[in-house]
Order: sequence, then C-alpha cells, then structure tokens
Amino acid sequence: MRIVKTIIFVLVVMVLAGCTTNLEVDASGPEIYSALCSRCHAGDLSGGVGPALGAGSEVAGQPDAYLIQTITSGLGRMPAFRNTLTEEQIRRVFDYLRSVQGST
Ligand code: HEC
Repeated sequence: MRIVKTIIFVLVVMVLAGCTTNLEVDASGPEIYSALCSRCHAGDLSGGVGPALGAGSEVAGQPDAYLIQTITSGLGRMPAFRNTLTEEQIRRVFDYLRSVQGST
C-alpha cells in the first residue's frame, strides 16, 4: 500500500509541476523569450550558450522561415520547441526577435 501511495504522490507532484512551468496560451513574445530562451541567448539577446539574436547579429540577416524552422525543430545544441510551444507562440517569439532587431 505504501508504495502505491508514494507513486500517486509522485504523479500528483509531476502534474502540478507541469502546470506551473506551462506558459499561458496567450503569453506574449517577450514573456516566452524570458521564460524559455533567455537562459541561453541572454535577456538582452546578446547571446551566451547560443548566438546573439539582437540588432546587428548574424541571425538578424537570416530569412524568417529559417529562424522559425530552428525554433520549431532545433539545431545542434538549440532545443526544438515544437512540443513546448504552439505554432502561434513560436510566431510571437519570432516577432519579438524581429522587433528587437528592428528589421523586417
Ligand atoms: C539550451 C540552450 C538554448 C535555448 C534554451 C534556446 N536556444 Fe536558441 N540556440 C542555441 C544554440 C546553441 C544555437 C546555435 C545552434 C547552432 O548553430 O548549432 C541557437 C540558435 C538559435 C537561433 C539561430 C538559428 C541559426 O541557425 O542561426 C535562433 C533564432 C534561436 N536560437 C532562437 C531561440 C529561441 C526563440 C529560443 C526560445 C524559444 C531559444 N533559441 C532557446 C541554444 C539555445
């Protein structure tokens, strides 16, 4: 019996933890960025583990489809976000990158 209770307890904790780390469906681009991207690309997009993403960066000159593809499916050490974010959320965080870059 004790083991069953332990397993149920662990499952409940996992579900609760899952709920708190899930982003709101309507989270804005900056919210998504700071929750999921800033630890590798820095809060100001200046880069860290991953490359700089802001104005004047190499990424700023790359095509839209390529960036969206990278965020969706990952690349090298860049994790894929297709299971974490909806297509719309990916679009929002992408729009945020472009707005900071000041490019089209
Ligand atoms: C675990 C660290 C990590 C996290 C978290 C992360 N990235 Fe990255 N990202 C990387 C690395 C490393 C690269 C470089 C990949 C390569 O060129 O091999 C990268 C590359 C990129 C690129 C450039 C793609 C290219 O090919 O030039 C974009 C755009 C990007 N990340 C956006 C994001 C966004 C948006 C998020 C949050 C949703 C995010 N990253 C989260 C590590 C991360």
